[in-house]
Amino acid sequence: MPADSKFTKLRSELDLRRSRHLYRSTRVADSPQQPQRHIDGKPLLTFCSNDYLGLANHPAVIRAFQQAANTYGVGSGAAHLVNGHSRPHQQLEEALAAFTGRERALLFSTGYMANLGVVNALLTGRNDLVYADRLNHASLVDAALLSGAKLIRYPHNDTTSLGKRLLAHEGDAPTQLILTDGVFSMDGDVAPLAKLALMAQQHEAWLMVDDAHGFGVLGNTGAGLVEAAGLNQDDVPILMGTLGKALGTAGAFIAGSHDLIEYLIQTARTWIYTTAQPPAVAAATLVSLQLVATESWRREHLRSLIQQFRTGAVQLGLPLMPSDTAIQPMLVGSSEQALSISRKLEARGILVTAIRPPTVPVETARLRVTLSAAHTVEDVERLLDALGKA
Ligand SMILES: Cc1ncc(COP(=O)(O)O)c(C=O)c1O
Repeated sequence: MPADSKFTKLRSELDLRRSRHLYRSTRVADSPQQPQRHIDGKPLLTFCSNDYLGLANHPAVIRAFQQAANTYGVGSGAAHLVNGHSRPHQQLEEALAAFTGRERALLFSTGYMANLGVVNALLTGRNDLVYADRLNHASLVDAALLSGAKLIRYPHNDTTSLGKRLLAHEGDAPTQLILTDGVFSMDGDVAPLAKLALMAQQHEAWLMVDDAHGFGVLGNTGAGLVEAAGLNQDDVPILMGTLGKALGTAGAFIAGSHDLIEYLIQTARTWIYTTAQPPAVAAATLVSLQLVATESWRREHLRSLIQQFRTGAVQLGLPLMPSDTAIQPMLVGSSEQALSISRKLEARGILVTAIRPPTVPVETARLRVTLSAAHTVEDVERLLDALGKA
């Protein structure tokens, strides 16, 4: 074989992706995360971030970050168990536990790593069973695959099918885990948590909820979908939340019982073998957590924008999906068409990215509109106007 045949293979794979309208590339922003951004040299009104409460660029959060950088420097310099765990990490873990009504919380550097870490700590091999919603986020899918446990996927939010699968495998495995997104990241709908909690208890399975898109946004105080569903630590023993979305910073946490967290500290490899997040990120997150808890107006404003968008989209006859959350996708179908609509919107100064396979199933490409408390009523009017014309 010629020396560079391996690159020829890569190039042909890239060409294939281009021809199928699946090629993806980054854009470069020269402004903070906020609705009005300067991206690739032009001003755009954006509707695709997960900064649901508009905290990523909040002055108090920035100030806390700067002050902590003055005190603690930039890098944490080591893993938590070595000497990378500083006061802001500790305070944030305690604050997250109190806020979510759990005994303890453990900080991870990303949500992806939190998911890999927990699932692989709890499931130890082929004898274990993991039940996963078909539309779970990629990080949960990867976590389950990496664990080597038998992966049983059930149709989206279909608790009847899940029940049949649990019954069929009754008594088969030393450890069983039910894994679900709280708010589904590409669809915006929510998992039937109360039912799942009951089923998990009946079958002595763990239930783990990834509330990346609910934490900060849902529930009376913003503690997420578990709060909205009125579920405690016994109902949902493993709660995962991310800090890079509604909290506007970065990182993630697992909240649960004292024993669970102690077990993770001893065994979760993506927590043990990685550098702790910069202390200033934890300090900034402490402030955004206070804003989430004490200033409910952001959630209220966001709810009214969601209502405004849905009412307007229905009037325009747009293919809305059944979602009450800040994630408001419009199903298009073909990747080519989704891309073409996204480009037309961009020509009108509006950025809504086209979400295509493999992020979503084949032939379900969509425009994923996300709304933020930082948007105004006029922003949403502009979006609806542009969608009507595109
Ligand atoms: C449902 C869900 N879980 C986990 C993650 C990963 O979190 P992080 O971005 O912090 O790695 C994301 C998105 O990023 C997500 O949407």
